Amino acid sequence: MNDWKVEITFQFPENAAMRVSTQELLQAAYGQYALGAFNVCNLEQVHGLFRGATEARAPVIVQFTRVMRDYAHPLMLEHLLCGAEMIYPGVTFAVHHDHGDEASCADAIASGHYSSVMIDASHLPFEQNVAATQRVVEMTHRRGIAVEAELGQLKGVEDEMSVEAKGALLTDPAQAEEFVQRTGCDSLAVAIGTSHGAYKFTGSQRLHLDVLAEIKRRLTGFPLVLHGGSAVPSEEIERIREAGGRLDSSASGVSEEELKQAIALSVAKVNIATDGRLIWTRVHREFFRDQPGEFDFMHPGRIYMNEFADFVAKKCKLLGATGKVSCHGNVATRVNHTTNGRPSATSARPSASSALKLKRRGRQGLRKGRRGFSSASR
Ligand code: 13P
Repeated sequence: MNDWKVEITFQFPENAAMRVSTQELLQAAYGQYALGAFNVCNLEQVHGLFRGATEARAPVIVQFTRVMRDYAHPLMLEHLLCGAEMIYPGVTFAVHHDHGDEASCADAIASGHYSSVMIDASHLPFEQNVAATQRVVEMTHRRGIAVEAELGQLKGVEDEMSVEAKGALLTDPAQAEEFVQRTGCDSLAVAIGTSHGAYKFTGSQRLHLDVLAEIKRRLTGFPLVLHGGSAVPSEEIERIREAGGRLDSSASGVSEEELKQAIALSVAKVNIATDGRLIWTRVHREFFRDQPGEFDFMHPGRIYMNEFADFVAKKCKLLGATGKVSCHGNVATRVNHTTNGRPSATSARPSASSALKLKRRGRQGLRKGRRGFSSASR
C-alpha cells in the first residue's frame, strides 16, 4: 500500500458545540445533578445524543469503549464527533474513553480527542490496580486529561450470596479512600451492586446505598461514577419480546428513585449503554415485523435517532442536568483543535477561522499496527 495523504479541513463555525473538560463538568455537577455519560457507536446514536442534549440544554459525556473503538475504528468515532460539533451548536460535551486498558488509554490520549479516560484495572488485585492507575494518571495529568478508575467488581450481587461474597464484589469504602489518595485519580467508578447489561438484579437486591454513603463520607467532594446506570424499562423488554426478541422478562435496571439517591451521595456521572441498545432493538424489530418488505436501513434509522434523542433528553431531566448548559459555557475549558489535528486545552472559544486539519498517513502512518477489528461489542 502506497503511503498517501488526505488533508481535510473543517471550518469551525463561531457557534460550534463546546467540547469541554470532563473534570470541570463533574465538579459543576457534584452534589446537585449527574451527567449522563452515553456510550454511542454509530451515526444514528451520535445524532440522537446531540439532538437530545440540544433539546435538554444539558451537558453530556460522550463515551467510546475500547471494544467500540475496535469495532468502528477510533478515527471514525472521533470524527463523527467533529461533525456533530459543527452540526449541533449549543451542545456542551466532554469525550471520555470508557473501560480502557493501559494501551487503549495511551492511544486515546495520543489522539488528542479525549478529555478523560477510564483505566479499568478493577479485575486485578488491589496493588496492581493502584499501580496501573498510577501509570495512567502519570500519562494523562501532564496533558490536562482526567482519569476515572474503578474499584470493586461490577457484577450483580445476589440474594443468596454470603456477606463475605458480597463484600468481595462491592467497593470497600476504606480501600476507596486509600486508592484515591495513592493514585491521584480524578473520579472513581464504584461497585455498589449494579452491573452492565440488561440483567442487573435478582431477587430483592438493589443498589447498596449504604456502601455509597460510607464512600461519600470518606471522600467528600470527590466525584463518583455509577456504571450500569441503565433503567432497562420493562415496557421496552415486553415490546422487544412481542416483536420476536428473546430477552428474559426478568431483565431489570436501576430505578429513578435509586438514581436520585445516588446523586445525593456523590454520584456525578451515570453511565448508560444498554438502554440505547434496547431502544435500537425494539425500533428495528418492530419496524421490520410491521413492514416485512422494507430493506432501507434509513427508515428505521430515522425513527431510532428520534427515539434516542427523546430518551437522552428525558434521562438528562431525570439526572437533574436539564438547563445546565448556560452555566458551564463561561467556565468550561474548551478543547480547541490545533492544526495538527491534536486538540489542546484552552479557555477560549475558537475563532471562526480555527481549523482542524487531519493528515491521514494511511496504514503506514500513525495508526500502523495498533488495532485489529473485531465484531464484539460491550
Ligand atoms: P448499562 O449496561 O447499565 O447501560 O451500563 C453501561 C456502562 O456502565 C458503561 O460503562
